[in-house]
Order: sequence, then structure tokens, then C-alpha cells
Amino acid sequence: MLSEKQVAEFRARFAVFRKKIYLNSCSQGALSDEVIVSFREFLTSWDEQGSPWDAWIEEYEAARRTFARLIGADADEVAIVPSASAGINAVANSLRFDERPEVILGEYDFPTTGHAWLAQQSRGAKVRFVEAEGGGISPEAYERCITKKTGILGVTRISFLNGWRADVAGIATAARKHGALLLLDDYQDCGTRPVNVKALDVDFYVSGTLKYLLGPPGVAFLYVRKELVQKLLPTISGWFAQENPFAFDVRRFEPARTARRFQAGTPPIPNLYSSRRGVELLESVGFENIAEHVARLASTLLDGARDLGIEAKTPAGSVGPLAVLRANDADGLVKLLAEHQIVVSSRHDGLRVSFHAYNTMEDVWTVLRVLERHMSLLATGSKAAGKA
Ligand SMILES: Cc1ncc(COP(=O)(O)O)c(C=O)c1O
Repeated sequence: MLSEKQVAEFRARFAVFRKKIYLNSCSQGALSDEVIVSFREFLTSWDEQGSPWDAWIEEYEAARRTFARLIGADADEVAIVPSASAGINAVANSLRFDERPEVILGEYDFPTTGHAWLAQQSRGAKVRFVEAEGGGISPEAYERCITKKTGILGVTRISFLNGWRADVAGIATAARKHGALLLLDDYQDCGTRPVNVKALDVDFYVSGTLKYLLGPPGVAFLYVRKELVQKLLPTISGWFAQENPFAFDVRRFEPARTARRFQAGTPPIPNLYSSRRGVELLESVGFENIAEHVARLASTLLDGARDLGIEAKTPAGSVGPLAVLRANDADGLVKLLAEHQIVVSSRHDGLRVSFHAYNTMEDVWTVLRVLERHMSLLATGSKAAGKA
């Protein structure tokens, strides 16, 4: 468990808290002193050395090793990509849809998941969406949609819409039973708890640095289970996907024998410099500690809101870093909270409040005090969780 002193010391590294109560890590993590320094390091290397590509490529590989350590994978199972969308697309365009054309997604997935797989319809994919019930989708609901023609399930661990936490182990068991693959999108949780992709038993895993990993946009990563890497050949490629990117042979197409085959072009070096530092900061706090801290803050907010009679969109028992309250005017509430120097976000009728290691119980009470004074902007009722 993190002590108040530990949280205060960690928080002090993020300048935004000198002016604001920052509760929007579900959109973009806060900027730390460490990440600022790493950007400066990149600029200095560029300024003083011109083009130190060997050092930059070493940063790129160091970032890969860091992401691999973060999720319990080998570095050769990790591709560095510019966005989660690029990672999902790299998997989608490497699959064939002749024998198992069905792709099963959930209605709470981030829209990019739908877009990436729906784009594969021209190659034969048949996309189906599992509907939610009571604010979540059970493994049984996923299993009811799986047939012997199902090739892959796209599953999101924490929904960006309502903070619902999927039972990944249950869904993975259902997928295995029917011989289907599973791609986990962990963008809304990665950075707030320990992750082990082997224990999760997923085939593919995507996340990126800009949210709870406290890094910049422009860097994401894709894990591909070792046994699958060489069975899949992406149809979108480039020199950084080759076994030897520096062979400089335009006629030769030799995809890497590792997950690097899911990459394409020159990596975003400035962002890579800093993406590793966010992860290292979190490692210094400890992921078990962060998970426990975040769960306490989120459940206090949800309990406090329910006590005020505010409807929670986040299902009871689904505590993660993101707590979502139903609002009559979610955008209005975001603006109102901004006037109190509180940064949150909205999606449809949901007011999203997200927590990380730098947030405190006082942040929660401050939000609740403001909400209590503006109940007309919130949906009140007896339902614990409804449709997202
Ligand atoms: C769960 C989830 N997946 C994917 C994305 C999109 O990621 P990217 O823009 O890196 O493709 C988001 C963005 O908010 C998200 O919340």
C-alpha cells in the first residue's frame, strides 16, 4: 500500500498538480519531470551530434526491452508501432479469413477496434459485435457468439466508455475451447497493475504509452505470442520490419523472424526516448501498490457518488482506474469542473474520472463536493449501472 508521503513525493514530480487536480489519465497521462528531461536528452543528442543513429536505435531497443519486461514477454515478441490502431491493423492484415472468417468484438470496445476489423471485410472478414448486458459482457456472452468459423476475438480489458473490466481469463478460456485467437486491447489499464501476457494466455496484446504509462503519444506496442510470429505475414511492411533493416536491398523482402515483422518505417525517436522513462517511474512505485491505490480511489468516488444518488455507469465490482458517472450534461460538467481546476473528460453521457498513482483521496473528495452542488447536471436514480 502506498503511504500518503509516497503519493505526495510521486505527485510532486508532475508540475500540472501545482495548478490543477488532474484526473484524466484515461486520455493522456500527466507529464513528469523525468519525461521532460528525456525529451531534452533527445534534443541535446540531435543538437550536438547531428544524427547519432546508433544511439537512437539503442534507445528504440531499450524501449522494446522495457515494454517486454512490463508485460512479461520476450523482447522478440514485441513490435513497436505508432499507435494501438497500427498494432491491431498489423494483426488484422496478417490473418486470412478463408477457413475462419468470423471476428468477434464487443460493443464496448474502443471504436478503432471496429474500424480496423471492419476494414478487413473486403478480405473476407465477417465482424460480429457481442452486446452488453447490465454494463458488461460476460465470458458466456462471448462464448455464445463463437462458432467453429470464429478466427479471432478482440477484447478490451477496461472499456473507455464506462470503465467496465472484462473477465479476460474467462473469455480466453472460451476462445481456446473453440480454437479461436484472442487479441487483448489493454490501453485503459496498462500501467495501473502488474501484467503478464503469458498468465493472461492471450495471443496478441496492444497498449501504448500516452495514458497510464505516462509517456507521449506516438508510441504503442504489440505483443505477438512467440509460436504465432512466424506463422503470420503482415501485408503492410517496410524496412523496420525486415530481418536486417540496414541491408538496404530494395529487391529483397525478408521479414524479421521476430515480432519486428509487424513494424514498418522509421520509429519516432523523440517519443521513444521518453516512453521508457514513464514505465520506469511506475516500476519505482510498484504495480501492486498502484493497483491497490487506484482501486481505493475509484471505489471511494463510486461509493460517494452512489451515496449522493448519482447513477454510476461503471458496474459495481468492476473497479479499475476509470470511474464513470452518468450525466444529464456531461460536457457541461467537464467545463464546470475545469472552472474548479479539475481536469476530467466525457464520452456521450458519461463523466469520466480516472485515477493514477499521483492522485489522492483529497482529489476524490474535491470532485464529490463540486458534484454535490450541481446535481441537476447528473443522472440520479436507483440503477447501479446501466447501458454504456
Ligand atoms: C481502449 C483503447 N484502445 C485503443 C485506443 C486508441 O489508441 P490509438 O489512438 O493509439 O490507436 C484508445 C484511445 O483512447 C483506447 O482507449
